[in-house]
Amino acid sequence: MAVFRLALILLVIGGAAAQVQLEPQNVAVLLGSQALFNCSRTPAVSSITWMLNKVFVVSIQAGSISVSGPRFSVKNYSASEILKTELTISNVQRSDAGEVTCLFLGNEAVVSRLSVQERGSVAITGGNRTVIQGAQTEFQCQAFGWSPEPNVSWSVNGVVVKICTNSSVSQGNVFNTSCTLTVTAAINSSVQCLVKVSTMSSPEISTVFLSVVYLRGSVAIKGGNRTVIQGAQTEFQCQAFGWSPEPNVSWSVNGPKPRDYTILIAVTVAFSAAALLFLLIFGIIFFCRRRKKEKSGYEEEVRRARLQSQPMATITSDARNNGGYVTDGRYDPSKKDVPAEDFDIDMRAPETEKAAVAIQSQFRKFQKKKHVVKS
Ligand SMILES: *[C@@H]1O[C@H](CO)[C@@H](O)[C@H](O)[C@H]1NC(C)=O
Ligand SMILES: *[C@@H]1O[C@H](CO)[C@@H](O)[C@H](O)[C@H]1NC(C)=O
Ligand SMILES: *[C@@H]1O[C@H](CO)[C@@H](O)[C@H](O)[C@H]1NC(C)=O
Ligand SMILES: *[C@@H]1O[C@H](CO)[C@@H](O)[C@H](O)[C@H]1NC(C)=O
Ligand SMILES: *[C@@H]1O[C@H](CO)[C@@H](O)[C@H](O)[C@H]1NC(C)=O
Ligand SMILES: *[C@@H]1O[C@H](CO)[C@@H](O)[C@H](O)[C@H]1NC(C)=O
Ligand SMILES: *[C@@H]1O[C@H](CO)[C@@H](O)[C@H](O)[C@H]1NC(C)=O
Ligand SMILES: *[C@@H]1O[C@H](CO)[C@@H](O)[C@H](O)[C@H]1NC(C)=O
Ligand SMILES: *[C@@H]1O[C@H](CO)[C@@H](O)[C@H](O)[C@H]1NC(C)=O
Repeated sequence: MAVFRLALILLVIGGAAAQVQLEPQNVAVLLGSQALFNCSRTPAVSSITWMLNKVFVVSIQAGSISVSGPRFSVKNYSASEILKTELTISNVQRSDAGEVTCLFLGNEAVVSRLSVQERGSVAITGGNRTVIQGAQTEFQCQAFGWSPEPNVSWSVNGVVVKICTNSSVSQGNVFNTSCTLTVTAAINSSVQCLVKVSTMSSPEISTVFLSVVYLRGSVAIKGGNRTVIQGAQTEFQCQAFGWSPEPNVSWSVNGPKPRDYTILIAVTVAFSAAALLFLLIFGIIFFCRRRKKEKSGYEEEVRRARLQSQPMATITSDARNNGGYVTDGRYDPSKKDVPAEDFDIDMRAPETEKAAVAIQSQFRKFQKKKHVVKS
């Protein structure tokens, strides 16, 4: 009995205070997209009107629906005890931002807010870059035509490195944002500027590539080759110019570096030249010995006289010159003074003997040296 009474009282109260709801509240959508709202009333009534910024858009009266334009539509979710309609606003315009009102018979009204966001453009000015490793380079991101003020961030190789704040100018509700990023070039990177407003599931992205180049500069030892007295100290200065990044500089003395093919080739060439000269000189000696036997005493006298008047330097300087495998020619000041036709040798002269011995010993030394280098 008591339970029945309580149910009756509740029914009376419920009927007196109707349940009116407009969902969702505070809707934000992107310009051009659609916005949806549900309006419901318990208990159900026969009439409902939708308004946008106080202007009628949809009206349902006793089963008949009238709409103010093609951008508006309703769906019926009503049941026996509840009136529920869903309003869809398609292709949302800037002017749609504001109040959405649901109005029932008897002027019961509920209000929700619609805000319209705008997706603008984003660009990194200057495009792709190529910079020297270690150099600083500045990127500028420009986001135009966003609403509300967008979140702008930078990412390098997928890692967010900077979030830009307070970098916008606005024209009414529309914002232009500019943000710079300074990067020290280390590795080839993709640099991205990401711009987003809350209604976007993924940001608008601009990507540029940063190519890092290395510079191979020059290297020189100042002062060049040295000749110093044994035991003396000598200082070398290495100068490496135009390298990037900072190069590793190291010194080596008789180190493995110079033992390359160049040295081997040089040695081979010098060895061949020495061998040729050796053979040539012995050929000349042999030829002279044979010729001398045939020549008259007079001729010999003349030749001897000439030899004494001409400097012996011809053969000795040649011997010195060919003795080492360094064929510089700068140890031979007399060389160019001797005419070629005067090349004549007295086999009995002690100088000739000495020269031959010198050539042989130098050649043996050279052979040894070659062994050492090759091993
Ligand atoms: C409105 O209500 C219906 C049924 O309850 C639901 O399917 C729909 O998603 C709702 N729409 C909005 C915008 O909440
Ligand atoms: C909405 O649906 C309810 C229940 O199905 C129905 O009684 C009512 O007439 C419908 N209203 C409109 C406008 O179609
Ligand atoms: C930047 O480089 C990428 C890849 O190397 C290329 O696809 C893109 O077109 C370049 N952008 C510009 C503006 O040159
Ligand atoms: C942005 O600027 C506003 C006023 O112009 C200031 O109140 C706010 O603290 C600034 N925010 C940041 C993160 O600098
Ligand atoms: C934003 O940028 C656009 C395009 O560059 C320009 O037309 C507009 O005047 C700018 N607005 C403001 C507030 O600077
Ligand atoms: C923008 O950044 C602020 C602070 O970093 C964050 O609270 C907010 O959710 C961000 N908004 C969007 C749309 O990402
Ligand atoms: C960077 O990219 C350039 C081509 O864009 C390439 O030549 C270079 O080798 C790359 N550098 C590194 C360190 O990968
Ligand atoms: C130093 O001497 C070597 C061998 O004689 C020669 O190849 C090189 O060019 C010389 N270097 C300089 C800087 O004179
Ligand atoms: C330079 O030397 C350092 C230390 O010896 C070494 O860690 C580094 O890898 C070297 N860099 C190059 C490019 O050789």
